[in-house]
Amino acid sequence: MSRLVVISNRVALPDEQGRPAPGGLAVAVEATLQGRDGLWFGWSGQVADDPPPPTTLECGHMTYVLTDVRPQDFREYYNGFANRVLWPILHYRVDLAEFCETDLDGYRRVNAFFAERLSPLLEADDILWVHDYHLMPLALALRARGHANRIGFFLHIPMPPPDLLTALPHHAEVVGALTEYNLIGFQTDNDAGNFARYLTSVTGATTRDGRHYHLGQQHFRVGVFPVGIDSAGFRRLAEAATHSTFAEELDESLSGRTLMVGVDRLDYSKGIVNRLDGYERFLEKYPAWHGHLSYLQIAPGSRQDIPEYIEIDAAVSAKVGHINGRFGAASWVPLRYVSRNHRREEVATIMRMARIGLVTPLRDGMNLVAKEFVAAQDPADPGVLILSQFAGAAAELDAALLVNPHDRDAMADAIHRALDMPLEERRARHREMYAVLETNHIRNWGNSFIEALTWPGRPPE
Ligand code: G6P
Repeated sequence: MSRLVVISNRVALPDEQGRPAPGGLAVAVEATLQGRDGLWFGWSGQVADDPPPPTTLECGHMTYVLTDVRPQDFREYYNGFANRVLWPILHYRVDLAEFCETDLDGYRRVNAFFAERLSPLLEADDILWVHDYHLMPLALALRARGHANRIGFFLHIPMPPPDLLTALPHHAEVVGALTEYNLIGFQTDNDAGNFARYLTSVTGATTRDGRHYHLGQQHFRVGVFPVGIDSAGFRRLAEAATHSTFAEELDESLSGRTLMVGVDRLDYSKGIVNRLDGYERFLEKYPAWHGHLSYLQIAPGSRQDIPEYIEIDAAVSAKVGHINGRFGAASWVPLRYVSRNHRREEVATIMRMARIGLVTPLRDGMNLVAKEFVAAQDPADPGVLILSQFAGAAAELDAALLVNPHDRDAMADAIHRALDMPLEERRARHREMYAVLETNHIRNWGNSFIEALTWPGRPPE
């Protein structure tokens, strides 16, 4: 059977016992291997003035190959073009994009460098699966080296409408490079539809069925593959951790108060300041809840060299201080704000103990925290998910309380409604959402992508 080669900027390495990393891509890759061999290539997370040959780690069926990048690459490719240009524009924040030619050069250079390092490791029948916005031109760089393999690309983050995408300088080169892939996958119909409109209106690609496209000599497919989670695995984690010391200490600290939780990487796309505005409004409108609700916001720092991330850090901290100062009492802190990273089982425990999960990004490709919150609940007495209509997950989890994160009153009212929601309604909503998690399980995700990528037919002319 042909080998599966996964390429992503970050690589999820197995633990010391050789078990695959928990959650996300690693679980999907493991499930997709099904007896075949795999190779996972990506950045080591390290920089070096003169990167040594890649490090290789063998583990069961998998070989992990990691390369360092140069400090200038880290600045221009990662902090620059990927995270200060593509990230904001693809999250509909054209106003935050800081484009410069040297960063684009760095992006081109690192994609060419990845292709150069990967090329000698490839065999003719390998199937390649490339992940996310860091690596859009990788197929082009590999084709230039003569690799005619099937190569698929999956975008984990949103794909905005053509009007926003064309604000990206050199979009025809960067986004147009996606047409070198055999399959381009998105999280939602909305993302795939936006890309389809870009293809037909900007690149001149043609399609008869909206799934198969022709452009010059090339033909490729576009598909929707919503990322899932290992729902039963996460539920078990949450159940098992209920009796831990961590759970006991958290429970004791609550002194019988209701818990509401948010868990996000500290990123402006997550809408944390807007969410805090919504909470402040809730505290204004529903004073009967003062002293009875404890909101725990976990937000580990991220991409901390980038100015917009330094700003969001300061803005969130200021807002937290403002809310606690305005509404707190000697015996009650309305908002607990924690920047430290928590272990998976700790997050699962917190979610299971919470009556409300607040997941209100301004824009998100999928948002797996929303799915994990649902999986962590006790079906007999589940908590309520308040979910932004702009998270990819909203397309599947429409039994959540869907909110517009720009509407602070709507968020305040959703919190109140969740607190008041009768048990029967909570159970029914949870049942519906958990069934979706089971259907769109992370195992099905990888398999359906690879199945579509290796599809033997020819597209309709
Ligand atoms: C998002 C992206 C991933 C990225 C992750 C963490 O989920 O889709 O590609 O790895 O954020 O960001 P970081 O910059 O730390 O890799």
